[in-house]
Amino acid sequence: MTSVPKRWPGLSGPQEVVRRDRSFDVEALRADFPILRRQIHGKPLVYLDNAATAQKPQAVIDSVSRYYEQDNANVHRGVHYLSERATEEYEGARKTIQYFLNAADASEIIFVRGATEGINLVAQTYGRANVGRGDEVLISAMEHHSNIVPWQMLCEVKGAKLRVIPINDSGELIWEEFEKLLGSRTKMVAVTHVSNALGTVNPVRRIVEQAHRANVPVLVDGAQSVPHIEVDVQALDCDFFVFSGHKIYGPTGIGVLYGKSALLDAMPPYQGGGDMISSVTFEKTTYNKLPYKFEAGTPHIAGGIGLGCAIGYLNGVGIERVERHEHDLLAYATRAVGEIPGLLVIGTAAEKAGVLSFVMEEIHPHDIGTILDQQGIAIRTGHHCAQPVMQRFGIPATARASFALYNTREEVDALVSGLKKVREVFA
Ligand SMILES: Cc1ncc(COP(=O)(O)O)c(C=O)c1O
Repeated sequence: MTSVPKRWPGLSGPQEVVRRDRSFDVEALRADFPILRRQIHGKPLVYLDNAATAQKPQAVIDSVSRYYEQDNANVHRGVHYLSERATEEYEGARKTIQYFLNAADASEIIFVRGATEGINLVAQTYGRANVGRGDEVLISAMEHHSNIVPWQMLCEVKGAKLRVIPINDSGELIWEEFEKLLGSRTKMVAVTHVSNALGTVNPVRRIVEQAHRANVPVLVDGAQSVPHIEVDVQALDCDFFVFSGHKIYGPTGIGVLYGKSALLDAMPPYQGGGDMISSVTFEKTTYNKLPYKFEAGTPHIAGGIGLGCAIGYLNGVGIERVERHEHDLLAYATRAVGEIPGLLVIGTAAEKAGVLSFVMEEIHPHDIGTILDQQGIAIRTGHHCAQPVMQRFGIPATARASFALYNTREEVDALVSGLKKVREVFA
């Protein structure tokens, strides 16, 4: 393969993680992730819980410790050297994220704690200002709780109504129902790009087009898309986009809200405090410009720097290569588990990314997870913070294997033999 990573202007510092080896050598990539050398219960770790959180490459771990060891100071405040260094690195990370999402301007990138906080921010600022009694917020039946509850809370306060686009038996949105539900009362459409419980990739470009025809803004929950598929917020034309750092090889406690500047400018701030102001008197406060208006208080500086580095790392590997590799793994795993008697895959959409959810006849998913754990295999079991998805399929829980760039076909084989062992135990 000859493609090279996007050369992003201005990329320097910990974000500049360029891999010399331009082939997709999964073993070389695995060596970048120290935790993958661990043994669990005496077996090599097979980590297939990436939709919950991804592991971190050494470069990211180093960027965080280097900040604390060498550059620790507060940002945007001091005139001294360390404060300038910290600010440079933190703002450099914002630029990296701008290029990564192809946002029009770095000021459209707001640092938040994660996807959850990004959605709450939009619900509590844009939502409170624009959603009123009798209005509607439209979400889908495959949302994570973090893209349900904030809208529910808003609707409760405002006397608005939450409407839900249903999904079919494959776990795909029913388009005609979406068209029917989108109406003059709709004030916001909030949908996931990729479902964490089913793996479905939603046609967000088409959703945005349709919603914009009705003058309705769209928030896209990208928590499960950015690690797996290329995202261009200008091409999608979405109004808001959120994701979490820890699912894309970065630290926990940091994430991103992207918003179109015209919308962000018009929105009231979320939290009050330092950094988000331009001037304060007891009579009146004026707010800072974007993005700082939405970043009250000392931010998660190390997290921002680590996230910039994680995205630099992913860019160095090449998202299109990651997409191809994970697509191959998912197809391989889907075929392999399909041969296990009594196993049913939940979520069989034509377009999927990263996630393989399943149930096994007469075996509770928690038992599957526990037996696999004894073999060093980490998967997730439960409702995956998507209880309505479980209700839709009439099941209490699923077992879920989810993939990252460092997973291999051998690990899928280990999962399959582990599942055969589960069957033997319950035979
Ligand atoms: C689709 C989706 N949205 C939102 C979230 C929430 O992410 P966080 O807990 O990092 O805020 C998750 C986490 O699993 C998710 O999968």
